[in-house]
Amino acid sequence: MGKIILTGDRPTGRLHLGHYVGSLKRRVELQNSGEYDKVFIMIADAQALTDNADNPEKIRQNIIEVALDYLSCGLDASKSTIFIQSQVAELCELSFYYMNLVTVSRLQRNPTVKTEIQMRNFETSIPVGFFTYPISQASDITAFKATTVPAGEDQEPMVEQTREIVRKFNSVYGETLVEPEILLPENCVCQRLPGTDGKAKMSKSLGNCIYLSDTAEDVRKKVMSMYTDPGHIRIEDPGKIEGNTVFTYLDAFCRPEHFAEFLPDYASLDELKAHYQRGGLGDVKVKKFLNSILQQELEPIRARRKEFEQDIPGVYRMLKDGSDKARETAARTLAEVRRAMRIDYFDDRELIESQALKFKA
Ligand code: TRP
Repeated sequence: MGKIILTGDRPTGRLHLGHYVGSLKRRVELQNSGEYDKVFIMIADAQALTDNADNPEKIRQNIIEVALDYLSCGLDASKSTIFIQSQVAELCELSFYYMNLVTVSRLQRNPTVKTEIQMRNFETSIPVGFFTYPISQASDITAFKATTVPAGEDQEPMVEQTREIVRKFNSVYGETLVEPEILLPENCVCQRLPGTDGKAKMSKSLGNCIYLSDTAEDVRKKVMSMYTDPGHIRIEDPGKIEGNTVFTYLDAFCRPEHFAEFLPDYASLDELKAHYQRGGLGDVKVKKFLNSILQQELEPIRARRKEFEQDIPGVYRMLKDGSDKARETAARTLAEVRRAMRIDYFDDRELIESQALKFKA
């Protein structure tokens, strides 16, 4: 059996640096590694609607933004199937059957859903669709027989839930579905890149994101106003590295060769950090260094985006082709699921014949 990737994002906004280091960059590497037989990348619009039911226009507008972000980072429709979740109706049917294999109390224990409920002040009015989205996510993963789900640690409970559903399904109905594994980011600073304000996470509502589609000037401004160490007032003051966002970003993006190119006075990040901690190194210098690194990383992404923006109808066509292809795969799995569950009545000659016999007797 081959190795298959499925992963995706909710189209609630443009993608930012947190998405990039946490998953996008890795996805492109995995796509190009040749180690996977198939790669499915899903724009999870149906999941996004589970907590945006009253704002479908937001989701509709952001589908193309996410698709452009994907393509500009190097996801390639000739190597990966890029598709839109809602266009694969088979996923809903799978969810409907999986719902019978999961208890309400099991869903209530999902830590990611718990925090999300708190963040959205949903405590007393949780939409059922939102509450059950881990089940729908199990459908996304199993429909494609994915072996590997590259995602951040917040997706771990979803993959675990999926594995439980697979085991339960296979034990009740016979070996049909594949148990997936999560593939976490390698570099642990990449697991959760803080916002530019130092808050735990980049989030659109906090306004602390650097978007992949930001202009060079936007990026520069955001870097120059980033949160550092509030106790580091004069250049000669000793500075803190922990919780200093500029250094956290350097941990995520800086490579040894960047020093020769942009900051030849230092040989390594450790040296730079030591100087900052000792005192005598100003924030502006470190921020300019980070800005150079980020601009170098983002420039080719911006340039590719500009190109794809010239052919929006082509991007939609790519998404339609991807969705059609994804649908074929999901339909094959659904047929197996129906057979395993013995609800394939009309394709089951034995059933029809034995019933005929029974009523003749
Ligand atoms: N929950 C993911 C997110 O919020 C999106 C998603 C939906 C997903 N279905 C998936 C991710 C299946 C991985 C696998 O970004």
